[in-house]
Amino acid sequence: MGSKIESVLARRIWDSRGRPTVEVDVRLAGGAWGRGVAPAGASRGSREAVDLRDGGPQLGGFDVQRAIGNVNGAIARCIVGMDAMDQQAVDGAMIALDGTSTKSALGGNATIATSLAVLQAAAAAAGLPLWRHLSGGAPVRMPLPEIQIFGGGAHAGRRVDVQDFLIMPIGAASFDEAMVMTAEVYRAAGELMERMGRRCGVADEGGWWPDFKSNEEALETLVRAIDAAGYRHDQVAISLDIAASEFGRNGRYTLGLEQRSYDTSDWLELLVGWVARYPILSVEDPVAEDDAQGMREFTAAVGHKVQVIGDDFLVSNAALVRDAVAAGSCNAVLLKPNQVGTISETRQALEVARAAGWGTVVSARSGETEDVAIVHLAVGWNAGQLKVGSFARSERMAKWNEALRVEAAIGAGAVYAGRKALPVP
Ligand code: PGA
Ligand code: ZN
Repeated sequence: MGSKIESVLARRIWDSRGRPTVEVDVRLAGGAWGRGVAPAGASRGSREAVDLRDGGPQLGGFDVQRAIGNVNGAIARCIVGMDAMDQQAVDGAMIALDGTSTKSALGGNATIATSLAVLQAAAAAAGLPLWRHLSGGAPVRMPLPEIQIFGGGAHAGRRVDVQDFLIMPIGAASFDEAMVMTAEVYRAAGELMERMGRRCGVADEGGWWPDFKSNEEALETLVRAIDAAGYRHDQVAISLDIAASEFGRNGRYTLGLEQRSYDTSDWLELLVGWVARYPILSVEDPVAEDDAQGMREFTAAVGHKVQVIGDDFLVSNAALVRDAVAAGSCNAVLLKPNQVGTISETRQALEVARAAGWGTVVSARSGETEDVAIVHLAVGWNAGQLKVGSFARSERMAKWNEALRVEAAIGAGAVYAGRKALPVP
């Protein structure tokens, strides 16, 4: 059998923050091979798969020799000889071998890099680009991208509290046009910052460094950038990733920039006010991961007109998505494969969300590499939306550029999801 796994080999490479990460090569009996890389988050949900690091003084404790050892040892012994075409069986074997609910024994970084490498090897054995292998011939759409214009929160030394000020080119006719619109808004925002005397480089995901006096000033400046680029608000809309777990706990939200503290209901009132005053069509993690009631209240207040995404709140976990669907906590899920640790589990979370009519957003992490697999997952799974950071830094641009190549490969029949990808009218 040509798709039998013959060897599994992990090595240490380096991510976009200059930190070690795990890369895995999987070779099959028939000669095909695939490579997977683990990304890394900075604003992580507490229920995420464990990102196994060595600790100690060297490399800030971030080294991954233990995770690499787990791939080259226990994981390799477990999956060599298995069929790479049966992703679920391979992932299931790793889940069973790990035996914990958070991949804390093997490390989610070890399992996701291996899982992705197996997937890539299977696509190579089938002689197909990854997106095509994943779609199995079913119709796909080019995703609506969410692109960060200002980066804040844990990605910018907490200069502002809100983590991502993003745009969504809902009115583009194609992914190619969506990138043109993004480039115009990104450039206009940079020019505005320059004129305000506040241009000081970029944050971790490439968005402009957020040198603002308040969180709302960032929002105002983003609207001005969209206007300056010449787009109407039905062409380019705003998406916010509040990432509220970073500054909220036990029903208290404390903004460092404004030196103000809110209880959940005052905090929600502020956010609902932003949604009313600005062209916002999507809000991610509006409240902290421990505030299930706040999540339900926000979705009840604005979920009929705004996409409400659970990230830290759901950690790409199908069981948590199922509970959130039942409770009406949000209406969309962020899908970060390393949050849960395998490709099969990520796909399960997507299918649960899709069956509920939710929005599904495939997402990279703030610590990334040149790996572009995430783009293929978004297209091949027909997720409808893709979030990979800003419009600068090559670990981000590699992904947007890969999406352009996929759109070109699909050719004249390519469909851009656009606004229809959102779970709201
Ligand atoms: P992270 O943040 O990759 O640093 O965890 C991204 C996000 O919150 O969406
Ligand atoms: Zn997030």
